[in-house]
Amino acid sequence: MDATPNTASAKLTVGDKSWDLPVKHGTIGPDVMDISKLYGQTGMFTYDPGFTSTASCESQITYIDGDEGVLLYRGYPIEQLAENGDFLETCYLLLYGELPTAEQKADFDMSVTRHTMVHDQMNRFFTGFRRDAHPMAIMVACVGALSAFYHDSTDISDPQQRLIASIRMIAKMPTLAAMAYKYHIGQPFVYPKNDLDYSSNFLRMCFAVPCEDYKVSPVLSRALDKIFILHADHEQNASTSTVRLAGSSGANPFACIAAGVACLWGPAHGGANEAALKMLTEIGRPERIPEFVNRAKDKNDPFRLMGFGHRVYKNYDPRAKIMQQTCHEVLSELGIKDDPLLDVAVELERVALHDEYFIEKKLYPNIDFYSGITLKAMGFPTAMFTVLFALARTVGWIGQWKEMIEDPSQRIGRPRQLYTGAARRDYVAMAKRK
Ligand code: ACO
Repeated sequence: MDATPNTASAKLTVGDKSWDLPVKHGTIGPDVMDISKLYGQTGMFTYDPGFTSTASCESQITYIDGDEGVLLYRGYPIEQLAENGDFLETCYLLLYGELPTAEQKADFDMSVTRHTMVHDQMNRFFTGFRRDAHPMAIMVACVGALSAFYHDSTDISDPQQRLIASIRMIAKMPTLAAMAYKYHIGQPFVYPKNDLDYSSNFLRMCFAVPCEDYKVSPVLSRALDKIFILHADHEQNASTSTVRLAGSSGANPFACIAAGVACLWGPAHGGANEAALKMLTEIGRPERIPEFVNRAKDKNDPFRLMGFGHRVYKNYDPRAKIMQQTCHEVLSELGIKDDPLLDVAVELERVALHDEYFIEKKLYPNIDFYSGITLKAMGFPTAMFTVLFALARTVGWIGQWKEMIEDPSQRIGRPRQLYTGAARRDYVAMAKRK
């Protein structure tokens, strides 16, 4: 399914010179102008801070139509995958391109399950951190450190090593995430249990203690599985692009995924669910909503409604709809009838969706708007929210990394710049500086 051969071209005219640029067509989505030879032909770069108009790669994994609010993994709508499948099926789909047969699924589940334990030396690695370290800080370090523990899967030119590294990361992320949580709260690590499914195992590793087991609720486990499916991939977002850029130099897969975790931590990206929950807590009650909405609209106030707006979705984020429904399911399972945060969230969404500012700028709730309330109700502290996102997104990062490594046209990523600093000048001895 390569991009179809060029049937059109675009003409670029600068002064009295013009050049033809090939136009490529994807399966769906906007065409792209191929500017890869532009510098050689014209001596000019393009300028696109934040990559708002630039396709950095060709990919067959995930498709988003931000105007229509559509998200497809390998062509399958996110709603159908979340409703009918489980997270490991989504992992298989993202990695291999097709839904697994029953036999393939059983094999895949078995491989992931059999790689959930981490090297025992990692336990000591954890104890080097301060107890109050943010679990994302621990995750960045521990995921990078996997390359020091699993040397036999760092040769990226070997497909078998690439595969083992991929399975290892999908399998070990929940274990590392649960360890980061346990360490943070001062409880002993709980080892994985292989007769549990992926999400139930994760819940147990987080919430069981040696003196008391944790009975996993199938409703909560299913809800978490859905949350993982919703977060599994999102085409060339900031953290995925970070993983691709890191991987383009030939860095080992664990180092690349650690780079993705670091990028995800930012509040404009994966940190937004934590920020959204903090904001809802700060608002506190529905009567205070107008004050915060007005602040969000004030150009002189840096405050933004967290969990609102998206670089690509200029419509309702399709994941936000499923997240909202999952949030209600979790609260009902836990018998939480009146959650003041949910009241604030529902009312804030209603007010914003009817406000001219948000309508005009096409700002809709994104996936993070309801995920914080849901994860908090499940018992996760806010500091863990982005960790759960990283756990789920690992498969997307790996799938995109693998696709890049296997692309014969892959080259090191090296953006150019518009230089606006000082022109050449001579060194001035310190005594002569003013
Ligand atoms: N609240 C108030 N105003 C907003 C918001 C918001 N949440 N988001 C965007 N705007 C406004 C901006 O002020 C800007 O207005 P202007 O055109 O008058 O200057 C306009 O909408 C466009 O905003 P940009 O920042 O240019 O849009 P961009 O695509 O760069 O940013 C982003 C997208 C970062 C997600 C932004 O909407 C935001 O900061 N939202 C809050 C954080 C958040 O929820 N992030 C989660 C993203 S989803 C994810 O990572 C899974």
